Amino acid sequence: MTQFLLNQHVISIENVDPNLTVLNWLRNDQRRCGTKEGCASGDCGACTVVVGTAEEGKIRYSSANACLLLVGQLHGKQLLTVEDLAHHGELHPVQQTLACGHASQCGFCTPGIVMSTFVMCKHAPQADSATVAHHLGGNLCRCTGYRPIVEAAMQLLKSPVTDSFPEHEAETVQRLQGIGAQSSENLLMPESLDALAAAYLHYPQARLLAGGTDLNLLITQAHQRHARLISLARVSELNDIELQGNRLTIGAMTSLDRCQRELKTSLPAFSEMLDRFASWQIRQQGTLGGNLANASPIGDCAPALLAMEARLRLRCGSQTREVPLAEFFTGYRQTLLQAGEFITHILIDDVTLSRGLRLWKVSKRREDDISAVFAAINLDVERGVIVRARIAFGGMAATPARAYRCEAALTGQPLNQETFTSAAKALTAEFSPLSDFRASADYRLQVAQNLLKRYLLQMTTTAHAVEVKDYVR
Ligand SMILES: Cc1cc2nc3c(=O)[nH]c(=O)nc-3n(C[C@H](O)[C@H](O)[C@H](O)COP(=O)(O)OP(=O)(O)OC[C@H]3O[C@@H](n4cnc5c(N)ncnc54)[C@H](O)[C@@H]3O)c2cc1C
Ligand code: FES
Ligand code: FES
Repeated sequence: MTQFLLNQHVISIENVDPNLTVLNWLRNDQRRCGTKEGCASGDCGACTVVVGTAEEGKIRYSSANACLLLVGQLHGKQLLTVEDLAHHGELHPVQQTLACGHASQCGFCTPGIVMSTFVMCKHAPQADSATVAHHLGGNLCRCTGYRPIVEAAMQLLKSPVTDSFPEHEAETVQRLQGIGAQSSENLLMPESLDALAAAYLHYPQARLLAGGTDLNLLITQAHQRHARLISLARVSELNDIELQGNRLTIGAMTSLDRCQRELKTSLPAFSEMLDRFASWQIRQQGTLGGNLANASPIGDCAPALLAMEARLRLRCGSQTREVPLAEFFTGYRQTLLQAGEFITHILIDDVTLSRGLRLWKVSKRREDDISAVFAAINLDVERGVIVRARIAFGGMAATPARAYRCEAALTGQPLNQETFTSAAKALTAEFSPLSDFRASADYRLQVAQNLLKRYLLQMTTTAHAVEVKDYVR
């Protein structure tokens, strides 16, 4: 049975449909129509809800796109919608401030913006416009204009927001902790790595569900129905980041948001890049393992990890093996995973070898957009000579790929323009990118070559004339 709290009401659902989204459940079954459907693909944020998780005696709030969240994923959690915020007939301070700040016009986006802002305030981050963009970048508004929304959010960040939720926190934690294991035929939720391995071996045709930000698009966009899902959500062994010496091990279920927060020191370029990954809602829900297993040629983490020579630990039944990420992708959206096999961990043997790593994502919008080209360039230079080159691209081939010819053109050569001109030429022989609605083949190749030159500029210009965060239209 799937069990969760809808604010403070216990919801129990026998044999939950593994294809039922929280958005459809709220609007159709509960008639809670404050949560809106804009795109049903995680892009607009109109359906943003809040999910509370009991962690270390407290509730950790995160925002999620209800259109890409399954009801089964709520097991053991608390769900809050815009209907839950007003208290004793008074608007919540977030609602009040947005209303008084004229931050809503037609109001369609407003419930989603309210919920994202609520979570932002609960995390009490620094009050600056970059913080607001980070937390609200996944909420589109087509008519108000963003200035009043940003101003209202900034005002809320200046002093702590007080509401009635802390009064119920201890009781909510207790009630969530009292919810036991979930068991249903078509949505399995194993509670350990061994149980997961056994379940997947038993049902190799089932689909693994991590955050669901890719998988659930099949339901809402391709109108597919999953017969059986196996959720990885309650396998704690998959949700950990461990740095031992210089060796980093990241559990496959670690959210992209957690990677961004916790890898700031060990992998600063990677952490900084994640600010350009989708939206805050998606980063809190989506996982690193899901991003790699999805095997998209334009996924952002794969090229970055390829340039760090990452390896994957895989598990099938009782067998474990490790493979270089460079061997993992076997074709367009294909991997070497066998039936019943899954990723347990992402391994980086030596984080210090990523000091020369620079990452660039080129997309049409800064917030919440998919890469046209992603470049990951990692060079070790000693006394002006490139001694080691690890370069990978996304968007340039059917899979994320290392640029071996380009690496060969750089290795052993001086760090100068001539070297980079021949390395850029090597890229022409190495890749034949596709033309699609994101970019033409010529554009992709030109951008890849220019990013290579940008690396040289960054290495040789002390003023850092070129900003890492730049994006190109
Ligand atoms: C609006 C939007 C914006 C996005 N923006 C970006 C972006 O900027 N950059 C980007 O790279 N991606 C982006 N994505 C894609 C997606 O968010 C990421 O790929 C995310 O990391 C997927 O992780 P997940 O946990 O949600 O995976 P899921 O959707 O749960 O799973 C994805 C696939 O991997 C399989 N899988 C999951 N975990 C494992 C495992 N441990 N072992 C084996 N198989 C597994 C699943 O069965 C499924 O086939 C975006 C998606 C949306 C909807
Ligand atoms: S409806 Fe647009 S993000 Fe969910
Ligand atoms: S107020 Fe109309 S879409 Fe934002």
